[in-house]
Amino acid sequence: MKVSQMALENKQPSERDSSNFGEWRGRFPYNDIISLLDVNRPFNLAESTSQDLSLGQLLDLPGLENIRDLKLGYSKSSGATELREAVADACKVPVEQVIATQGTALGLFLLTFEVCRPGDEAVLVTPCFPPSRDSLLGAGATVREVMLPFDNGYRIDIERIDANLSPRTKLISIASPQNPSGVQTSRADIEELLVLMDQKCPQALLFIDETYREATYGSDVIADSFAGLDMRIVTGASVSKALGAPGLRTGWLTVVDADLRSRLTVAKMNTVISGSVLDEILAAALLRNKEGVLASRRRLLAKALDELTIWCRGESKFIEWVRPNAGALCCLRLRSDVFDDVAVSRFWKLLPDHDLQLGSGTWFGESSRVFRLGFGYLPPERLGPALSALSSALNSAAA
Ligand SMILES: Cc1ncc(COP(=O)(O)O)c(C=O)c1O
Repeated sequence: MKVSQMALENKQPSERDSSNFGEWRGRFPYNDIISLLDVNRPFNLAESTSQDLSLGQLLDLPGLENIRDLKLGYSKSSGATELREAVADACKVPVEQVIATQGTALGLFLLTFEVCRPGDEAVLVTPCFPPSRDSLLGAGATVREVMLPFDNGYRIDIERIDANLSPRTKLISIASPQNPSGVQTSRADIEELLVLMDQKCPQALLFIDETYREATYGSDVIADSFAGLDMRIVTGASVSKALGAPGLRTGWLTVVDADLRSRLTVAKMNTVISGSVLDEILAAALLRNKEGVLASRRRLLAKALDELTIWCRGESKFIEWVRPNAGALCCLRLRSDVFDDVAVSRFWKLLPDHDLQLGSGTWFGESSRVFRLGFGYLPPERLGPALSALSSALNSAAA
């Protein structure tokens, strides 16, 4: 069976048999997270974004009154000035340090390909967003994984990162908050890591993926961006998650080092030439007006997280969970005293019968006993029914 056919099938990844498509010959590893682009079940608890913003909501924001006059030429090599200014403002860095990218995804790819040559080492904190690993593998880097355990609440482990650093290390890649867990890394931990990098791999860069940073709950404090904190730090983020506009395909890197910046801009030119000027102008308006857009989304996320907390308490005989610090996502685990391996596969097979969709832990380098639950994507009135459907699936699988 062709992979394109598979992606169109209305199946949960873990229900598929990878032997269906024989030996995978792609330069990048195959990962079933691609199904998220093609499958959208009524109780979609697999998505990591908050609710999708509509174009109408965006066009109603101030500053877009003359959008019809926009000339549809190429954008600038580093991105539209309005966009870079809005990012610079949000991240508190000079505008020159911002390179616009098509989503954080392109930033991740450009950085990896520019910095890591075959044989170079990269230290990757997992479980992680699959392209964070797969772009490194596609670039031919040797990936040294530091897997954070569920039982330790996915807290960063600086000692274990340190044990993997060497003069061959070119890149250290982490996300804060992490995908799939929504767990954040503190500034103290990053500062400690920078000191260790000084000793073991002074040439290495530290990539911090901040795609979920602003998806906070209610009035929770928003962690400052790590942008500009150190010459060796590159951050990446986008309008995709907290602001609900992944379809704009607009993100950015912040890069202090001017030499690296120009190498990345040339890499971008060789990949996509420039961003879409339309997307960039829309994203700039969204960022300029982000406080209003984020306020209502944060209220919704806080309510959804409260609802999920109560549900998790009620289902504690079946599942354990790690409460996230930010992001519309978190990790739950099927309890091993209730679900043996057969019951775990039964659970995944049952999901379509309950109109349910979840992110399998296996996408992120975790076990299939763990799943990512996205609690911010469904409209509020659909979350309760979706969680009830999940309760039914748990009950049936455990029986
Ligand atoms: C940690 C992380 N980084 C990057 C991305 C890519 O998102 P985008 O390219 O839409 O910014 C994702 C998407 O799920 C993600 O979870």
